[in-house]
Amino acid sequence: MSEDVNEIKERIRLRFVKVATDPTAPQRHPHGPASAKKLGYDPAEIDALPTVVTESFAGVGNPLGLHALRPGETVVDIGCGAGVDSILAARKVGPSGRVIGVDMTAEMVKKATDNAVAAAVPNVEFHQREADRLPAGDGTVDVVISNGVFNLCTDKPKVLAEVYRVLRPGGRLQMADILLNETVTDEQVEKKGAWSD
Ligand SMILES: C[S@@+](CC[C@H](N)C(=O)[O-])C[C@H]1O[C@@H](n2cnc3c(N)ncnc32)[C@H](O)[C@@H]1O
Repeated sequence: MSEDVNEIKERIRLRFVKVATDPTAPQRHPHGPASAKKLGYDPAEIDALPTVVTESFAGVGNPLGLHALRPGETVVDIGCGAGVDSILAARKVGPSGRVIGVDMTAEMVKKATDNAVAAAVPNVEFHQREADRLPAGDGTVDVVISNGVFNLCTDKPKVLAEVYRVLRPGGRLQMADILLNETVTDEQVEKKGAWSD
């Protein structure tokens, strides 16, 4: 792996350590429960979660709003952060379903694990992993969700191939992400937010 890739990953990791451990510190991107509501989450669902669960939310959209999850489904959340989407998904798939959250930042994984306890959601587990090495067998997953993570992945085709590997035939990828157009100005980035440096 080139030095550049390692350096990029380390900068991304350090940013999200901060979001996990110091959620009230100023960030260059919107985060927390107010941001989730602005992005289209049901305000009642967000308010029903303990603040500790929602304070480190750092998503860019609402992947759960793209298609309803069904009871019994197995879901993988790539770059789950502090676990808001995973926890909401676990409630939707119910006790016969299962959610596996994956994040490369240890502090996020710890917080997500604690958050599942705080939200009293038992059918979710969290793993410290990179997105290109998902802890699921071939064709075993009904839905992959991801919120604001692909843009941070240094090898996007590899992550997509891994998504394809774990999804069953007919499974779904529900993702929200950001694209940087070369003509975006610094002012526009400041206004919308910047999730990486
Ligand atoms: C913008 S945050 C979004 C977190 C969460 N999805 C949410 O909506 O609150 C991006 C997350 O992706 C994780 N991440 C970035 N690159 C990753 C990679 N290659 N593999 C796994 N996780 C990654 C970061 O640690 C961070 O928690």
